Amino acid sequence: MKAVARAPGKIILTGEHFVVYGSFAVASSINLYVTVTAEFHKEPYIVSEDLGVKEPIDQTSHVLRPIAISIAPLIKGEKVMLKIKSDIPLSAGLGSSAAVSVAAVKAIDELLELKMESEEIYEAAMRGERLIHGKPSGIDVAISLFGGFLLFKKGYRKQICLGKNMEFMLCNTGLRRSTGQMIKRVASFASKNYKLFSKMVEVASIISVNLVRYLGRGEMERIGYLMNMNHEMLRMIGASNSILDRIVYGSRPLCFGSKLTGAGGGGCTIHLIKRERAKDLNSFLSKTCYKSIFVKAGVEGVKSWKIRN
Ligand code: PMV
Repeated sequence: MKAVARAPGKIILTGEHFVVYGSFAVASSINLYVTVTAEFHKEPYIVSEDLGVKEPIDQTSHVLRPIAISIAPLIKGEKVMLKIKSDIPLSAGLGSSAAVSVAAVKAIDELLELKMESEEIYEAAMRGERLIHGKPSGIDVAISLFGGFLLFKKGYRKQICLGKNMEFMLCNTGLRRSTGQMIKRVASFASKNYKLFSKMVEVASIISVNLVRYLGRGEMERIGYLMNMNHEMLRMIGASNSILDRIVYGSRPLCFGSKLTGAGGGGCTIHLIKRERAKDLNSFLSKTCYKSIFVKAGVEGVKSWKIRN
């Protein structure tokens, strides 16, 4: 018997970085997934097909250690093998590490029939995230676990109902970066500009709360405007760079709104699609990006099932 769990990646519409300092943020799940298969096995290994890594669960390197740390207290001496497969690009701001941890915990939950509550899965996956980022806000884990669109703040989350279907293009610059490094860069800005930064955290919160209202009414122009505004704030704190800016500003006439998503410094940008300009946007992004794709937002959160041999 095998247990399979599938967890989605995410985009952040507003509030990344500021959320680490207590602001509200808005995120959505996307239809790029990590799939983890767990089975009883005499060799307790974690195998990542994409990374070409196979390591014993109790002797993982830094690459697989967050997963081992998330699941170790749950296994309690059982010998299990985990196989990970992902179509979420790594270090690109799409929440791949959180999705792996969430899917790994959920696959173990399914295999061992632990009947874990969502909060327990959240806490287990956060163990892995803390190892990677130090003090993650938890937004990546929450969105991968619950799916949909979420208004999120540390210790708080609420599902958002959409007034209109929303479509996004995603542009991957192909520049990999570390979330931890970007968080440090922002921390340095925050400590040098304490008063200004505290106000920016408040503004990021207001932007996110207003965004919820516009999402509910399906007011695309206003949603796009708040995404654009959020990009400017991310630029001010050092999360953008000239490559991201070129893509974001170049695409502006072709969509409702565009911004970097996630920690920045590379990774991905998101673009809220305007139907009548979708073709032009697609051709701009396919020329400018390492890879551009259409993503479906607001997909359901982690799911698991059993496969009987
Ligand atoms: O790791 P990324 O690029 O998906 O970014 C996560 C969002 C941050 O706000 C930068 C960090 C966090 O923990 O919220």
